[in-house]
Amino acid sequence: MDSQHYLSELFSLDGRVALVTGGSSGIGRGIAQALARAGASVVVVARKEAELTATVEELQALGCRAARVSADLGTRDGVRAAAEQAVEAFGEPDILVNCAGINLRPPMSELDDEVWDTTMALNLDAPFLLGRRFGPAMAGRGFGRIIHVTSQQAHRAFVQSGAYGVSKGALESLARSQAEAWSPYGVTVNTLVPGFVMTPLNRRLSSDPEKVAALAARTMVGRNGLAEDFAGAAVFLASAASAYVTGQSVFVDGGFSVH
Ligand SMILES: NC(=O)c1ccc[n+]([C@@H]2O[C@H](COP(=O)([O-])OP(=O)(O)OC[C@H]3O[C@@H](n4cnc5c(N)ncnc54)[C@H](OP(=O)(O)O)[C@@H]3O)[C@@H](O)[C@H]2O)c1
Repeated sequence: MDSQHYLSELFSLDGRVALVTGGSSGIGRGIAQALARAGASVVVVARKEAELTATVEELQALGCRAARVSADLGTRDGVRAAAEQAVEAFGEPDILVNCAGINLRPPMSELDDEVWDTTMALNLDAPFLLGRRFGPAMAGRGFGRIIHVTSQQAHRAFVQSGAYGVSKGALESLARSQAEAWSPYGVTVNTLVPGFVMTPLNRRLSSDPEKVAALAARTMVGRNGLAEDFAGAAVFLASAASAYVTGQSVFVDGGFSVH
């Protein structure tokens, strides 16, 4: 067997369908591109049409199959509508990536009900609802991959973690609960844990060169993360190769969390 054939048995996503929330920007866009280039038909879900269209066009220009759904995942009705629209493109997903997220960062003493509810709705409730919608059918078909994108703030406080850190900690617990439920049926559930990644989410921090340099110095690799750093780990966790990896948190952070 030649090496290409072997690699393709392990990692190819040919014939798979993936749904990537937050797939129009930053880390989600990097993951959407990686899964599509590895062979999956990818549906990206987010709110802003322009970014969604640009992402789909970029993927199609690479020869990939891609579609978009514009939806607000911050409401339960929005999540339900997005899920039904998403399956219209390529059918039920084999791979679900929950990457859409917000980090509002008010000081703890000023954290009001609205920030708490908005954070939980997008960062935690949407992944739960999408998992409940697609997980059982994946289990019924005997194959599925669910990947949640959490944060180092699931593990420690960092720059006003507030509701955000709580939502990400709970998301890692959700991954373990889903893994317990569905792993016996071929559905693995894991989380990717970014450190500090240069994306629009942290525009305020990432536009301060001193802070950027200080954060880079806290990694072992010596630089901050980029969206493309998630490509390999995402393809691994979405592929046949990760069949015996479940309920795990995979840090993609240049060593930030262990330095
Ligand atoms: N950047 C970092 O340093 C870092 C570190 C740790 C963890 N993370 C996590 O990584 C994930 C991606 O972050 P990122 O840095 O790549 O952020 P980003 O570039 O701001 O992307 C966020 C994505 O989520 C979508 N989104 C936001 N609100 C939404 C809503 N209500 N409904 C549907 N989609 C929504 C956005 O599109 P629309 O605005 O068009 O809806 C966008 O596609 C997040 O879960 C974040 O918590 C990031």
